[in-house]
Amino acid sequence: MARPLPVVRTVKDLRAQVVDWRKAGHSIALVPTMGALHEGHLSLIDLARRHAARTVVSIFVNPSQFGENEDLDSYPRDERRDCALIAGRRGDLVFAPAIGEMYGEGFATTVDVPALSAPLCGASRPGHFVGVATVVAKLLNQARPDYAVFGEKDYQQLLVIRRLASDLDIQTEILGAPIVREDDGLALSSRNQYLNERERALAPQFHKTLRTVAEQIATGSRTGQAANWGARVLSQSGFRVDYVDVCDGATLERITGRPGSRAAARVFGAVYLRQTRLIDNVPVDRA
Ligand code: PAJ
Repeated sequence: MARPLPVVRTVKDLRAQVVDWRKAGHSIALVPTMGALHEGHLSLIDLARRHAARTVVSIFVNPSQFGENEDLDSYPRDERRDCALIAGRRGDLVFAPAIGEMYGEGFATTVDVPALSAPLCGASRPGHFVGVATVVAKLLNQARPDYAVFGEKDYQQLLVIRRLASDLDIQTEILGAPIVREDDGLALSSRNQYLNERERALAPQFHKTLRTVAEQIATGSRTGQAANWGARVLSQSGFRVDYVDVCDGATLERITGRPGSRAAARVFGAVYLRQTRLIDNVPVDRA
């Protein structure tokens, strides 16, 4: 049996625990999540535990990063299950605040990282990264961890967070963790549970196609041509394509023509199966 896992719901209680750990000389890692945990999230806890003596996992479905027509109300929530999974991976504390604890009366501040937030997902989800950046800045300030762990599955999010932590002099090292996938290549996501059987069977084509685009570029194709090919194949297979783009993995600037020798190119994609939005990205390996 996993040991019972303490859950705190206020910033005050979170800070009290963190102060105690600091007094005892422990380093601290934070793993921010919106719950509905899967093996991708749990891999972040494993990475956190390799770096720090104590790991806090936050569970907060952050309203400010959802658009009006998005899935805030239907987003899967199961705190008991999440806590059992966190305990099983030997997380030390869950921070699960109510909305009012995070956004008190008169809340008026936002954090914006415009250049990194504009392309890719930012173009079709206006305001999304302001919501993410604001809540992550708050979480980092609330827990003041030595490390915070984020997945490369949300690669653009990871870059936005690295930038804001650096720009705002937040003394937390931001760690990126590799994408955890199903055996068929589909990136794990809390939203995969929205997929019906037919959509689930089709979903791995998304990753496969992005990989083929990356291989085409690595073997000399022009980025625009390869990306257009990928988008066409995906829409012919039954996906509604938001974007397939090839960008510099550090700046997210679109790469046109052939990647230079210095740019670490990455292929980024976002598609819909009915209302379910899937995102993924793969590196272009140097030939
Ligand atoms: P959420 O979607 O719950 O994801 C929490 C963390 O898990 C993110 O860092 C995400 O990149 C990582 N993650 C999700 N699927 C993964 C996978 N298959 N492999 C590796 N890592 C994966 O991302 C958010 O929540 C929110 O935007 C948040 C950062 C918590 C701010 O509200």
